[in-house]
Amino acid sequence: MKTVTVIVGSAREGSINLKLARAIEKLAAGRLAFKFVAIDDLPMYNDDLWRDTPAAVTAFKAEIAAAEAVLFVTPEYNRTIPPLLNNALAWASKPYGQNAWVGKPAAVIGTTPGAIGTAIAQSHLRYIATVLDMVVLGQPEVYFQTKPGLIDDTFDVTDDTTRSFLEAFVAKFATFLDRVEVRETQAA
Ligand code: FNR
Repeated sequence: MKTVTVIVGSAREGSINLKLARAIEKLAAGRLAFKFVAIDDLPMYNDDLWRDTPAAVTAFKAEIAAAEAVLFVTPEYNRTIPPLLNNALAWASKPYGQNAWVGKPAAVIGTTPGAIGTAIAQSHLRYIATVLDMVVLGQPEVYFQTKPGLIDDTFDVTDDTTRSFLEAFVAKFATFLDRVEVRETQAA
């Protein structure tokens, strides 16, 4: 069974993106293992910090380097990805020539209370992921509008249609991961 490294672009305790990630973890049980990796202990990106690399950065880069697959669950902030997530993307992409994201199979999903369900943030994130040389799942897109009670406190999806939709995402992602090999080569 493949292990998916999950990166949630929100550090909020009550994050709806974390809740969505947990619901998908539950739907994927037995098919994919999920490993949640924190990004809120990373300092703000600064090239100078490589001189004495912070432990959190070393640990995060090692997690990404070892990842078989990555699932990004992103909020949308001002029609793009949150700074927290952008910061994590930057750290693992550097220093020059040591981009840990290279060749990682990845999927991008996210949720907001609003109707667009992070569509614009996801579009930006797919672009960045491609630039970082990840291999990104194209379909199905998951623009998830959070509504009260749709995911309950035990991370069960309460609506049949929504659950089927998310199960279809899990199935497609699992098939994608069976087909796409992690490339070890570093970008030129
Ligand atoms: C938001 N929110 C938001 N929502 C949206 O659909 N499009 C957007 O552009 C924005 N912009 C935005 C900017 C900032 C600074 C904040 C704090 C929030 C609302 C956002 O979707 C909502 O707060 C979610 O609950 C954030 O996700 P988590 O933290 O619950 O996972």
